[in-house]
Amino acid sequence: MNSVVISLGGSIISKDRLNLELMEKFSETMKSISTYDKFGIVVGGGKLARTYISDLKKYKVNDNILDEIGINATRINALAMTTFFDDVNSKIPTTINDAAEMIHNYRYVVMGGTEPGHTTDTVSTLLAERIGSRILINATSVDGVYSADPKTDSGAIKYRELSYNDAISLSIQNSTGAGANVFMDITSLTIAKRAGIEIFVVNGFNLNEYKNILYNKKCDGTVIH
Ligand code: UTP
Repeated sequence: MNSVVISLGGSIISKDRLNLELMEKFSETMKSISTYDKFGIVVGGGKLARTYISDLKKYKVNDNILDEIGINATRINALAMTTFFDDVNSKIPTTINDAAEMIHNYRYVVMGGTEPGHTTDTVSTLLAERIGSRILINATSVDGVYSADPKTDSGAIKYRELSYNDAISLSIQNSTGAGANVFMDITSLTIAKRAGIEIFVVNGFNLNEYKNILYNKKCDGTVIH
């Protein structure tokens, strides 16, 4: 089985409304790929998750419940994404085991989160490890991994390549700041390291990036390996 996993950030498929044009073009791009026969697509919660979580946080709602709410948001987004594919699951798997079984039956398996305590970054690396994918595309709203947040720091430098250990150090460093927005969580990077999965962190709005990676493993973002 020649598979690839794509972690599709929630901010890519929706802002205030669903980004239907991008969702359609993304699915068309995936359908045009002939170098892989199975696609695991893990969709993030985006604004839907963030709005619910930040509103309820003000009322000191338990973090575990907030995570459950976030997971449900990712699954709504995942279900929305399935409508753009044909050879795809109709029920959203809630575990990696279920997703791994489904991938035998469908060319595309779309899912969201699994359990509290991590993000869909971890789900996507776990899925990649489980189904034996050698590469993972992390489609985000930033075009790679930077030394600082490029939206607020004009001196931020983009890394073209990072070792697993350097990426883990950077993730730890970033996760200690207030309001931290980490490019990938530490668990996900640790799993990628143990499984030797090559991660491409790219601008998910740029459809050429997916093609470039899936055909010749080149991209304008950051490669973690
Ligand atoms: P995301 O994976 O979208 O989180 O899940 P994120 O990385 O913070 O969001 P983006 O990619 O920047 O938009 C949304 C939330 O759902 C919960 C977490 O609270 C997470 O922040 N979640 C998600 C889980 O608890 N477990 C999961 O497996 C997935």
